[in-house]
Amino acid sequence: MNVLRSARASLAEAGIESAELDARLLLEWIAGCDRLEIIRNPNRELGQHEYEALEAKLARRIKGESVHRIIGKRAFFGIELSLSTETLEPRPDTEALVELALPFLQNRISNHGVADIVDLGTGTGAIALSLLDQLPQLRAVGVDISADALATARENAVLSNVSSRFAALSSNWFSELTGSYDMIISNPPYIRTGDIAQLQREVVLHDPVRALDGGPDGLEPYRIIADHAAGYLRPGGVVALEIGAGQRQDIEAIFNARNFVMSGVRQDFGGHDRALLFTTIEK
Ligand SMILES: C[S@@+](CC[C@H](N)C(=O)[O-])C[C@H]1O[C@@H](n2cnc3c(N)ncnc32)[C@H](O)[C@@H]1O
Repeated sequence: MNVLRSARASLAEAGIESAELDARLLLEWIAGCDRLEIIRNPNRELGQHEYEALEAKLARRIKGESVHRIIGKRAFFGIELSLSTETLEPRPDTEALVELALPFLQNRISNHGVADIVDLGTGTGAIALSLLDQLPQLRAVGVDISADALATARENAVLSNVSSRFAALSSNWFSELTGSYDMIISNPPYIRTGDIAQLQREVVLHDPVRALDGGPDGLEPYRIIADHAAGYLRPGGVVALEIGAGQRQDIEAIFNARNFVMSGVRQDFGGHDRALLFTTIEK
């Protein structure tokens, strides 16, 4: 498809490293076809309307919006998630947290028949919904402070066919939460306030600040979680957390000081410790 070549060239000229993939994803989306169709039918022409739409999307990409934001969807751990203004675009690194959580939850379900989790700062619902998709006996509460994020998470739960096991709760972390859970899981905001302006422009311009800002040292949400988690955990329950690169020691210290011990760790694709599991120390 010549149009694929020219789309790729426009993105590459603008310095976009993922020009090849982004051009293909945008074209597949606009033309309503998949990669196989493009390979089978390389000379398929776009209609004028489709062509103009592609040009407009390429311009947005060149201005710094990610391809997934433009499309409004992103795949995550086998499910598809809609994005909205106040949701963070889920990252592949967060799949490390889901992978760390799964064996513990499978085990709880084998022993108790069901398990309950709360996903603090659920955003699109990525973590809770992918776990619900994997584990039919799991139930989840997704907490967020953003009404827009909660509406998106609810919509995504319907799209993933797990809405009967998902509840969205508007809460400032634990403020409105009741009940007890087998796991408290979270990918909280963990960027230092002062570092936000230096992030990639895709992130600074299009991810909501509330989903990024972890306070002056990037650790505020971890302190809040460590302070309150024990009151919401069932016996033997755990806290599972995504962390920023290089934050492991500080976060371990925060949890150790509140009677938790680290019982699991998982690295991301880049080899950084990315997900930690904490268990309460039995007194
Ligand atoms: C890093 S994003 C994670 C989103 C999603 N869980 C994921 O992994 O893709 C953090 C989320 O925490 C939410 N959040 C920020 N402050 C909060 C607060 N005080 N109480 C509840 N949620 C909060 C944000 O709205 C955002 O959705």
